Amino acid sequence: MAIQRTLSIIKPDAMEKNHAGAILAKFQEAGFVVRGLKRIHLTRAQAEGFYAEHSQRGFFGELTQFMSRGPITVLCLEREDAIAKYREVIGATDPAKAAEGTVRKLYGANVGENAVHGSDSEASAAREIGYFFAGYELV
Ligand code: RTP
Ligand code: MG
Repeated sequence: MAIQRTLSIIKPDAMEKNHAGAILAKFQEAGFVVRGLKRIHLTRAQAEGFYAEHSQRGFFGELTQFMSRGPITVLCLEREDAIAKYREVIGATDPAKAAEGTVRKLYGANVGENAVHGSDSEASAAREIGYFFAGYELV
């Protein structure tokens, strides 16, 4: 498997509970290297743009309100097979269904407020990294 990059977000719920440091440590323990990192507060429109693929879903309003309610940390993470490995580390979308020891099991509250985001394919990783980072910010 090749070296890949994936886009990670520590969502507002995890930021509010001061879990960002512990979550970053878990990513680093899992072999991810930080290539980009910043703390930002999305506008509603920026959250809608990021999650545009879900615009027809019933939870879109709730999701974009949640994602814009407070600061987030966005990370570009790199390792071998990063996209699949990252999704193993975070666990299932619904924390109640996530495996023991995963980030969402440890820090997620429910299917909406689930602590972290991760890219789901190489195409979405490229789009999502480009949504948040300029080339010079990835080092
Ligand atoms: P993400 O994109 O955030 O990494 O999550 P995911 O791939 O595991 O899940 P996805 O289907 O892409 O959903 C994106 C985010 O929308 C919220 N959600 N709410 N209320 C609901 O039924 C519901 N379903 C999904 C979650 O915040 C989910 O992570
Ligand atoms: Mg997704």
